[in-house]
Amino acid sequence: MANHLTSFVCFNCRTEHPADYDGYLCRECGGNLNAVYDYQAVAESFTVDRLKQDDEQTVWRYSELFPFADRRNVPGLHMGITPLYRNRIIEQQIDTELIYLKDDTRLPSASFKDRASSVVMAVAIEKGVERVACASTGNAGCSWACMGATCGMPVTIFVPASAPEAKIAQLEVYGADVRRVDGSYDDAFALCVEECEKHGYFNRNTGFNPYTREGKKSVSFEIWEQFGYRAPASVFVPVGDGNIISGVWKGFYDLQQLGLIDEMPAIFAVQSTNSDAIAKTISTIEQGSQSLDDFTVATVSATTRADSIAVDTPSDGVSAVRAVMETGGKAVTVSDQEILAEIWELASSTGIFAEPAGVTAVAGLKKFALAGGVVPAPAVALVTGNGLKDVKAVLEA
Ligand SMILES: Cc1ncc(COP(=O)(O)O)c(C=O)c1O
Ligand SMILES: [Zn+2]
Repeated sequence: MANHLTSFVCFNCRTEHPADYDGYLCRECGGNLNAVYDYQAVAESFTVDRLKQDDEQTVWRYSELFPFADRRNVPGLHMGITPLYRNRIIEQQIDTELIYLKDDTRLPSASFKDRASSVVMAVAIEKGVERVACASTGNAGCSWACMGATCGMPVTIFVPASAPEAKIAQLEVYGADVRRVDGSYDDAFALCVEECEKHGYFNRNTGFNPYTREGKKSVSFEIWEQFGYRAPASVFVPVGDGNIISGVWKGFYDLQQLGLIDEMPAIFAVQSTNSDAIAKTISTIEQGSQSLDDFTVATVSATTRADSIAVDTPSDGVSAVRAVMETGGKAVTVSDQEILAEIWELASSTGIFAEPAGVTAVAGLKKFALAGGVVPAPAVALVTGNGLKDVKAVLEA
């Protein structure tokens, strides 16, 4: 199989970088890089007919749109094709038909992050690296350690010492070299960058390594297939660093480039009011005090109980803000109390038990609708992390 990746382009200054660029961020301005594909070559086999006939029931059915050549390097655990459930209870609550939940709590390490880690691990193996690392609020690290375990790749993880116990246990049990950082996620992030530079580790940091977005976009391909090869009208996404939402955008962007969808869905960013850097930035653009062509992403002091989305300075903020504003979506904020209550409501009404960040998009969709907002339907809310990762949160609601 050929690798159809042709280059990387900076989200900020549009500088082009070669496909074999060995940095992570734009060499001119330090912005995030976006992978570019030869869509003409991809279109030869990425067709509805081929997908309908393909019996590969994992994300590897989308290999033409992943940035590696050798499919033999992908981790052996079952990846992707998670359920999309219609939720009639929410439909009644908000008086809107066609509300769906994408259940990513059941991926191998029990969070959405496996979509990124599996693809980035295949890239790392193809590059011939000997050790990989990442900083994480917990889930990205667990996922990276999980993929490392299944591929025999040594993994170092930098995690805030305050991460939930279950996530630390997951890191340990997968055999990672766990570095507990006395500080915030942003501190762990900076330390990981420094250590990777010093020791030559391959760094999976979210919103830094341009390949994570390329893995995360598989959720959009799945949703498109599950809707009968159509895009939904909207997607609600929990946002911390902004890399998941950027991945959702990228997946639908790829489909649009291939002529497989006409319109992008409206992409909604949902954040905690206690970690709302993206929502604040969007609000400054909506109010005209910053322009979408040239804006600075806000920094906040994140205190949310939803640890996975507690981020001071979103590292994929520029593309996250663009994903929302260029698709006609909005930013929605929910309180920690609303998030914690939603854990109970979602589990008891659907059987899906999710962690705080995992229910945030559902809470946001409901809040937006109940406040009089029109939810473009069909709508999908991403449920991104398993409730067993943070059982203490249940008792705090
Ligand atoms: C369960 C869960 N939901 C949402 C997010 C937010 O993703 P991002 O930081 O890319 O915005 C994360 C990130 O750690 C997560 O683990
Ligand atoms: Zn740049």
